[in-house]
Amino acid sequence: MTTPVVLETITELRAALSGPVAFVPTMGALHDGHLELVDRAAELAPTVVVSIFVNPLQFGPNEDLDRYPRTPEADLEKLGARGVQYVFMPSADELYPQWPIATKVTAGAVGGMYEGRSRPGHFDGVLTVVAKLLNIVQPDAVVFGRKDAQQVFLVTRMVRDLNLPIRVDVVDTVREPDGLALSSRNRYLDDKERRAARVLSQALEAAVSSGDRGVDPALAAAQSVLMGEQLIELDYLVIVSPTTFLPVDEGYRGKAIVLIAATVGSTRLIDNEPILLTA
Ligand code: PAJ
Repeated sequence: MTTPVVLETITELRAALSGPVAFVPTMGALHDGHLELVDRAAELAPTVVVSIFVNPLQFGPNEDLDRYPRTPEADLEKLGARGVQYVFMPSADELYPQWPIATKVTAGAVGGMYEGRSRPGHFDGVLTVVAKLLNIVQPDAVVFGRKDAQQVFLVTRMVRDLNLPIRVDVVDTVREPDGLALSSRNRYLDDKERRAARVLSQALEAAVSSGDRGVDPALAAAQSVLMGEQLIELDYLVIVSPTTFLPVDEGYRGKAIVLIAATVGSTRLIDNEPILLTA
């Protein structure tokens, strides 16, 4: 059990760090998924920095910025138990002294699809804050969760496009025993919604086990699982190429990713699974 050093300013953070660093950016309300990322980071470098910052730039005007869960004390305790040395918790003024920001990273065409279609500007906001945090922390490696597959794709692309000298490491999705992907937003679900939310991962599993029948049958298998649950409103269900992140054609063979997003009550949930298409 360590007590992490909490750094609130960029100056303090820069002064504290030396040697190789592995970095885990988060928005807090930490769960075991985040902590897996922390454990991976500890394997990558002797110093681990976790940031906790609810980034206003990646929330739309009608989204949950104000009610996004904030649990700093519990977060610090969990990070201490994992031996994290440094937690960067800047204020919005520290990260955005001149608001609105004039210069942004844009996420390109894929940034406007799937999550980006439902949440315009979201990925520009994500990439901009990730670029800022990488410049502030200057880590050797940065760790992301596969749970946010489109985010991983776009961050990896940014790191390559902008020649950032940083290794991007990806950790598999951590799930509840019934398959629901851990998410800070799961705490919004009431009991009925929580039970309904299981069908997201069940639909993905149905698609994955139909990968040997082709793209359309795999999507149909997922759809039929979703149809059994009234509380779920599907946003998108799509199979994308891992290299382009564009939807694959019927007849595609090889590795792909099934993406799903749905609203349960007023809570938006996303999930994904790798799929192998062989038909
Ligand atoms: P946040 O939603 O807090 O997630 C922080 C990291 O934890 C992300 O890399 C996310 O993919 C990972 N994560 C979340 N749930 C997970 C799970 N069940 N299993 C494995 N990893 C999981 O993603 C963000 O914050 C923000 O967009 C951020 C990158 C911090 C930029 O503001």
